[in-house]
Amino acid sequence: MKNNKNILITGGAGFIGSHVIRLMVTKYSNYHIYNLDALTYAGNLENLRDVENASNYTFLHGDITDEAFINGIFSEYQFDGVIHLAAESHVDRSITDPLAFAKTNILGTMILLNAFKDLWQNNWEGKRFYHVSTDEVYGSLGETGLFTESTSYDPNSPYSASKASSDHFVRAYGETYGLPYVISNCSNNYGPNQFPEKLIPLFINNIITKKALPVYGDGNYTRDWLYVIDHAIAIDLVFHKGANHETYNIGGFNEWKNIDLIKLLCQQMDEKLVRAVGESEKLITYVKDRPGHDLRYAIDSSKINKELGWSPSVTFEEGLSKTIDWFLENKEWMDSITSGAYQDYYRQLYK
Ligand code: NAD
Ligand code: DAU
Repeated sequence: MKNNKNILITGGAGFIGSHVIRLMVTKYSNYHIYNLDALTYAGNLENLRDVENASNYTFLHGDITDEAFINGIFSEYQFDGVIHLAAESHVDRSITDPLAFAKTNILGTMILLNAFKDLWQNNWEGKRFYHVSTDEVYGSLGETGLFTESTSYDPNSPYSASKASSDHFVRAYGETYGLPYVISNCSNNYGPNQFPEKLIPLFINNIITKKALPVYGDGNYTRDWLYVIDHAIAIDLVFHKGANHETYNIGGFNEWKNIDLIKLLCQQMDEKLVRAVGESEKLITYVKDRPGHDLRYAIDSSKINKELGWSPSVTFEEGLSKTIDWFLENKEWMDSITSGAYQDYYRQLYK
């Protein structure tokens, strides 16, 4: 196996992808990391300013659903490994525009799989395709139980159905063509650089600007939360040490009912903004529920813990506090998103 590798990371301008890129570029000087991203509304190269000039990093502007483009870059750069994160990722958007999710998440994944298969043609030594997926493929839990790697797929939203479908295609390429793959299914991430459509960054921004906090339904929905850097560390481990054709669940053993999480967030924000106790909670507004809203997700991540020695490095209280601090210290990052200016510089560069 050659030592120097060309690694393709898709979706690297997004939230989780940018943390994975930073980790890989700084940790592996023997890798050349190619970041392929279409710069959709969710892509923000500002997330990678600190590594964009690294000699082992190259940005490729393109769409995973553009077959000719994808085949072209596979043939040009001969990627030894792929870490595939590019996706439409927001459940609410999947309810209003399901076709966009089918196109990127299913067709885009297939085009990448196909290009990888055609490039290596059974010459698989030292090659790996890693699909980064979600716990939402398992559907909803009741009040008890945990998702394990053998839980049946039962997706409820167009987003989770598209991710479930792409997981199935990855497995099918493994069975049919022998393509070497790993899959991980992770719970809700939070942390620096998360796009402010997702619960935690949206609410942080609304608290700062004293806007309403829209709680869907009665707020009694449960999610398992994981700090994004812990997810990036897990991705590195699974990519390098995960067993071929295996799936790993990644989660924090950290379940929170939405309303309890929101109250904790409000408390921490009041302290950090030196506001009166209870001031942020007054912004809570119950709104119409999300259609098909999954009641509860909870991950059993004992397999990755036992086999690869991974566990989260921060508690939720610490991670949430670090996240709030990041948003308070990087106000211009949020401002450039809310004003819409965030992509101007790079769009000019890559048009
Ligand atoms: P994100 O929405 O922040 O980023 C997605 C990135 O993909 C963006 O940079 C976007 O420009 C890019 N992209 C979208 N469509 C593309 C296309 N057609 N071609 C090329 N690039 C495209 O997403 P995220 O929250 O960072 O999630 C990354 C991955 O992790 C996704 O596959 C998601 O399903 C999975 N995941 C996310 C979470 C979470 O809590 N955010 C949890 C588990 C799994
Ligand atoms: O579980 C992993 C998934 O977590 C990932 O695969 C998805 O990409 C990611 O977006 C996330 O999905 P959720 O739908 O759980 O995340 P979101 O931040 O949209 O919502 C979290 C919970 O908060 C959910 O129960 C809906 C609720 N919510 C969300 C928003 C945006 C609200 O009550 N109000 C809101 O305004």
